[in-house]
Amino acid sequence: MNTAAQSLTVLVTGASGGIGRAIAELLAARGHRLLLQGRDEKRLQQLCESLPGEAEHRVLVADLLDPDARQGLVQACRQQAGGVDVLINNAGVSTFALLADTRDDELVRILNTNLLAPMALTRDLMPVLQNSRRAAVINIGSAFGHIGHPGFSVYGASKSGLHGFTEALRREVADSGVRVHYLAPRAVDTAFNSDSVNALNRSLGNKSDSPQRVALACLNLLEGSGSRRRFIGWPERLFIKVNAIFPALVDSALAKKLPVIREYAQQNFPDLKGETP
Ligand SMILES: NC(=O)c1ccc[n+]([C@@H]2O[C@H](COP(=O)([O-])OP(=O)(O)OC[C@H]3O[C@@H](n4cnc5c(N)ncnc54)[C@H](OP(=O)(O)O)[C@@H]3O)[C@@H](O)[C@H]2O)c1
Repeated sequence: MNTAAQSLTVLVTGASGGIGRAIAELLAARGHRLLLQGRDEKRLQQLCESLPGEAEHRVLVADLLDPDARQGLVQACRQQAGGVDVLINNAGVSTFALLADTRDDELVRILNTNLLAPMALTRDLMPVLQNSRRAAVINIGSAFGHIGHPGFSVYGASKSGLHGFTEALRREVADSGVRVHYLAPRAVDTAFNSDSVNALNRSLGNKSDSPQRVALACLNLLEGSGSRRRFIGWPERLFIKVNAIFPALVDSALAKKLPVIREYAQQNFPDLKGETP
């Protein structure tokens, strides 16, 4: 348990989900104070009541896609005694579909949730964070933001954008004392992944991690020094480097897997099966 002097107040978005919950549990066990954000009040309340130091934590219900709700969240953070030290932009949504099967409203939902909402929330919370001498932002990305993968073009674009945002912001606030981290997991065992994604991962032999492993990586970022960029999982870390230097190698490796990926991606769209060339 941390001493009160080391205790941080941490806003975790998407705290009701698999990774958010694991982060909240680990940070609460270390003596930090959690502001638990999500849309499902009942699940957040149950989580809050299960955490060590229950009375210290707060539930903040807000739909991040609603600008007024986001403002309400920022206002609630401003009113916290002692302010807010850390923002963990963890809330996110995914889709596993070929681009041809993705409607406009789905494009908007994914990009707004995974990219625009964390950007707007970070901007609006920055003045609050800058009052802390231990301020940090952690953006939860994805390996798919660095290895463009068939079936995840929209999700990958949102996480790639989040990485670009994080890198630029880190440099923009470098003289402010706010640390800006980026953490990219590979597949994680949560309800985030649909049955077809899990089946694809099994078929391709892709490994997945527990949400606790992601939470530990998050804690290491908070307890370490400087601003960091972390990728979780081996050989994914190697593939990300190979993809950056020799993308044609990854193009041909994924081309061999394309029929299998297409098959699983179209499981959710049986009416369209076979229409994609
Ligand atoms: N699981 C993986 O395989 C994996 C791999 C790499 C990266 N990631 C990233 O890790 C993060 C967490 O994923 P997870 O596996 O924990 O997913 P999850 O279990 O599905 O949880 C997602 C969380 O995001 C919240 N959320 C979604 N849309 C929201 C909105 N409009 N407003 C407020 N909250 C919203 C959900 O809240 P509600 O309860 O209200 O729905 C939920 O708490 C995501 O950013 C994801 O991209 C996941």
